Amino acid sequence: MSYNKTPSITAETINPKVKIFNYEPCGEIVRYAERLQQEMDENPGSLPFPEIIHCNLGNPQALGQRPVTFFREVLCLCDNPALLNKDEARALFSPCAIRRAQRIINSIPGKETGGYTDSRGVKSLRQAVADGISARDGYPSDPDDIFLTDGASSAVNMMMQILIRSHEDGILCPLPEYPLYSASIILHGGTMVAYNLTEDRDWSLEIFEVKRCLEEARSAGLTVRAMVVINPGNPTGQVLSITNQEEIVEFCRKEGLVLLADEVYQDNVHVENKKFHSFKKVARSLGYDETDLSLVSFHSASMGFYGESGRRGGYMEITGFGHDVKDQIYKVASVTICPNIAGQILMSLVMDPPKLGDESFEIFESEKEKIHSSFWKRAKTLEKAFSSLEGVSCNNIEGALYLFPRLHLPSLAIKAAEAEGVSPDVFYTHRLLDATGIAVVPGSGFHQVKGTIHIRCTILPDEDKIAAMIPRLKAFHESFMNKYRGSEPYMKDLRR
Ligand SMILES: Cc1ncc(COP(=O)(O)O)c(C=O)c1O
Repeated sequence: MSYNKTPSITAETINPKVKIFNYEPCGEIVRYAERLQQEMDENPGSLPFPEIIHCNLGNPQALGQRPVTFFREVLCLCDNPALLNKDEARALFSPCAIRRAQRIINSIPGKETGGYTDSRGVKSLRQAVADGISARDGYPSDPDDIFLTDGASSAVNMMMQILIRSHEDGILCPLPEYPLYSASIILHGGTMVAYNLTEDRDWSLEIFEVKRCLEEARSAGLTVRAMVVINPGNPTGQVLSITNQEEIVEFCRKEGLVLLADEVYQDNVHVENKKFHSFKKVARSLGYDETDLSLVSFHSASMGFYGESGRRGGYMEITGFGHDVKDQIYKVASVTICPNIAGQILMSLVMDPPKLGDESFEIFESEKEKIHSSFWKRAKTLEKAFSSLEGVSCNNIEGALYLFPRLHLPSLAIKAAEAEGVSPDVFYTHRLLDATGIAVVPGSGFHQVKGTIHIRCTILPDEDKIAAMIPRLKAFHESFMNKYRGSEPYMKDLRR
C-alpha cells in the first residue's frame, strides 16, 4: 500500500486563527532569554552579565516569592489525608490548617483529591468562594453562580466561546491589553473592538472613547456583545476610581453589553488613596440587580501575595444570565470534565483565608504584609529608576505588578529598528537583554497605541535583584541613547 510521506498538516495548513495571534509575555523574549541562559550555563563568564533578571514574567514564585504557609499546609494535608490522624501532624501543621483540610476532604467526592469533580468545581469550595465574595462586597453571592476554573485564562476562554458566534461579533477591549483577550477573541473567531486607555491621564478609561469605538464598530456592521475591563490594569497598573466604575456599569447596562471584569489583581492595590471595588459591588450599590446587567467577574490564585500561578486556580462569578445560558456554560465547562483540585482548593483559600482568632491568622497576615510592603518598595525603586532615564516617562503604579514606561528614542534608533525589520520596542528590549541580562516585554506585545514605544517591566524580582539591575539599566540606556544620537559608540559589553 502506498502512502504519502509528506505530513498532511503543516504550519501552512493549520487553523489560520492560530497563526494570527501573538502571546508576547510567553513569546520571543522568553525564548531569547532561554538561549542566553543556556549559553551562560555552557560557557560561564561568556556574557557581559552575571545572571538573567526576569522582569518579563508575572510569575511570582518562579521569581523567588515564597508561598503562603497556611495555603501550603492545607494543600499538603488535603493531598495526604492520612496525616490528619497522626499525632506528628499536630507538631507540623497549625490546628486551623488541620481543621480546614479535614473539612475540605470531607466535602470532596471519595474524600481524595485525585478524582474528577463537578465541572463547576466542588460545591463546598464554590460555597467558600461565594462566602468570600459576599464578605468582600457586602452583597450576597450564590455558589451556583461560581465556576471554579484552571486559572482565570480558561474562564476567559470559556466566556469567549459562549459569546462569540462569528466574525461579526465584537468584544470591546482596552489597549494596551493583556493579550489573553486578543488571543481568545481571535481563536474563537470574533473581532476585537479596541478602545484606548489615556496614558497622560494615568491610563484612565474614558467612557467617551469607549462610546466612540462602540459606535464605529456598530456602523461597520458588528454586533458588540461585551466589554472587557481589567482592574487593576495589566500592563498599565491603574486602579479605576469608583465614579469611573459607575460610569462603566451604566454604559454596559444602557448599551446591553456583558461586562467582563478581569479582577485578578484585586489584592494588589499599592496606593493609599485607591481601593479595589468589584464591579458587582458597584452595580449592586447603584441598585442594579441580575435583571439589569450581565456581569462576569474573573479572579485567580496566580497573582498577588499568594502567587500560586502554576497551580492554575481561578473562578468566574456569573450574574445576570438566565438558567438556560448557565446550563450551556456548565456544558462547555464539562468538556474538560473539571478544573484541577489543587487549584480549586487554593481558590477557596484565597477567598476564605484565616480569620482573626484562627491560629494561623497572625502568620498569614505577617506574610501578606511582608510581600505587600516589598512590592511597594520594589515598585517605587523601579519607577524612580525608569523616570530618571533620558527620554523615558513612567506611569505611577497604583495596582497590579507592572510598570509600563514609555520610551522616546532617537530617530536613528527607530531607523535602525526598521532596517532590522522589527519594531523599536523589540529592538530596544533585545539590546537591553543582550547587554545587561534584563528581560522585559516589548509594549507591542500588549498592543500599545500605534506610534508609541513602551516596555513592560514586572516588579516581581526580589529587592536585591532589582538593586543589582538598576546600574546596569542606567548604563545601558545612556549608552544606547548616545549611540543613536550619534554622539558616542554603543557599548554592548558594559563591563568595559
Ligand atoms: C490581567 C490578567 N488576566 C488574567 C490573567 C491570567 O491569570 P491565570 O494565571 O489565572 O490564568 C493574567 C495573568 O497574568 C492577567 O495579567
